[in-house]
Amino acid sequence: MNAWPPFTVEVHASVRELAAAIARRIADALRTRPALVLGLPTGRTPVHLYRELRELCAAGLADFSNAATFNLDEFLGVPPAHPGSYRSYMERHLFRHVNLRRENIHLLDSGAADPILECERYERAIRSAGGIDLQLLGIGDNGHIGFNEPGASLSARTHRTRLHPETRRANAALFGGDWRKVPAEALSVGVGTILRAREIILIATGRAKASCVQRMMEGPVTTRVPASLLQLHSNVRVVLDKAAAAFIPPRGRPQSAGAGEARYPRRSLRG
Ligand code: GLP
Repeated sequence: MNAWPPFTVEVHASVRELAAAIARRIADALRTRPALVLGLPTGRTPVHLYRELRELCAAGLADFSNAATFNLDEFLGVPPAHPGSYRSYMERHLFRHVNLRRENIHLLDSGAADPILECERYERAIRSAGGIDLQLLGIGDNGHIGFNEPGASLSARTHRTRLHPETRRANAALFGGDWRKVPAEALSVGVGTILRAREIILIATGRAKASCVQRMMEGPVTTRVPASLLQLHSNVRVVLDKAAAAFIPPRGRPQSAGAGEARYPRRSLRG
């Protein structure tokens, strides 16, 4: 029998509604725990969420003044101020618009002279902040989380990694649409570090994500689908729009047309 704890699944009618719901959840968490330590993703998926957070902050409904953030990953060898760096992305979409204190914003250094030392420094910084309270995640089409790419093995801790061609293509927009300009290497928080977060919210939107969402939730726990390792965590909320939830069996989905929540019963543990 499968005795593993289920995911909590939330399906929203629109991306806007989804983003607003997660932003409210984060604002609530900040009220309960002002010194919240957030793990943050990049990519297209959280863009709407960051806009909602900016608006809540401007309206005085989300206070980041005591919070800390740790980004998941960063390209290697890109100057930090380059528009394609994740640091620039975060500045554009969130950091320069909210009341986070500069010293509480943490990113991996894309220009680090010694990437291995940089990874060790980052792990130490997460530990000294008391660990991640709430880790937000996107998911790559191939099932990656952060830059933990599918493979025969995964690194548990923050590490230097080589990006798959499809991941470089997915990030091409940040580099003028030319995937060959996307760095071939990156630094990423490891799966073990992600799994130590107290709470995880994975966000997926659009039909292109439906298959990897299904494999994450229903498939075997395998390094070939890094997000499937989230099945090992007991407090994961999967927040989807209808398109990304297309392959989730109806019994695991809310019945209502709008937003809803369901505990997701996994059928079995294979592989
Ligand atoms: C990128 C990032 C991930 C992100 C994922 C999905 O490569 N490294 O942190 O979650 O891929 O991106 P998107 O939201 O654009 O589909």
